[in-house]
Amino acid sequence: MTDVYNLGFLKDTIGETIVSTYDVDGHPNAAPMGIAVKSNEQLIIRPFMSSLTYKNLQTKRCAVVNVTSNPELFYRTAFKDANPDGNLSAELVEKAETVDAPRLRAADATVEVSVAETGSFSPERAEVLCNVQLVTASKALPKVYCRAQFATIEAIIHATRIKPFLMGDEQEQERALRLMELVEICRDIVDRTAPNSRYSEIMADLTQKIHLWRKESEGLR
Ligand SMILES: Cc1cc2nc3c(=O)[nH]c(=O)nc-3n(C[C@H](O)[C@H](O)[C@H](O)COP(=O)(O)O)c2cc1C
Repeated sequence: MTDVYNLGFLKDTIGETIVSTYDVDGHPNAAPMGIAVKSNEQLIIRPFMSSLTYKNLQTKRCAVVNVTSNPELFYRTAFKDANPDGNLSAELVEKAETVDAPRLRAADATVEVSVAETGSFSPERAEVLCNVQLVTASKALPKVYCRAQFATIEAIIHATRIKPFLMGDEQEQERALRLMELVEICRDIVDRTAPNSRYSEIMADLTQKIHLWRKESEGLR
C-alpha cells in the first residue's frame, strides 16, 4: 500500500486536503481541511466544532482524506452554494472501499480513515486523531506549477474565515479586513497570470460573496 508520506504529507507541516463524510442520513459532505501527520498510520484533523465535518466525524467515526490541488474542488466543497443546485453535487463522490464515507471521484489520491479519539485543539476547534485504513493513489501526470491555481486556493481559505469574522466583535472585524486585503493580493496574481480562466471566475465569485457579506454585516450594526 502507498503510504501517506509518499503523498506529500510531512511531519510538522499542514497538508491541505478535502475531507469527505456522510451525515446520519447518508448525505455526502466534503470540506477543505488541513491535515497534520502523527505517523504513517495516524493523521490529525482539526475541524471547527461548528462544521458539519466535525459533526459527521463524531457520528460516523470515519472519513476520506482526499488529495487534490484542483481549486474547483476546494471552491465547491468550501462553499456548497457554488455547486449548480446549491448543494454538494452527488456526482462528485462515490462510496469509499473500507469506511462508511464518500470519496471524491476526481481526487489524485485518497486516505480512508477511522476516528480513534477526539480531543480539543482550541476553544473552537477539535483535534480528531484518525487511523489510516487504506491509501490509494491515481497515476496522475505531474502538473506544472501555476501561481493562479495556488493563489485561488489561498483566497478560498481566507474567504472561509471572512464571513464569521465580519459577524464578530471589533477585533474579529479587523481580522476580516486583513483577510480581505490578502484576497486582493491573490486576485492580483490571478488577474496577471490567468485572466479569463476558471481561476479568475472563482476569484470574481469570491469578490462578490465578500461584498455581500460586508453589506450583511453592516446591516447588523
Ligand atoms: C484549504 C482550506 C483549508 C481549511 N482547513 C480547515 C481546517 O483545518 N479546519 C476547519 O474547520 N476548517 C477548515 N477550512 C474551512 C472549511 O473548509 C469551511 O469552513 C467549510 O465550509 C466547512 O464545511 P462543513 O461545515 O461542510 O464541514 C479550510 C478551508 C480551506 C479552503
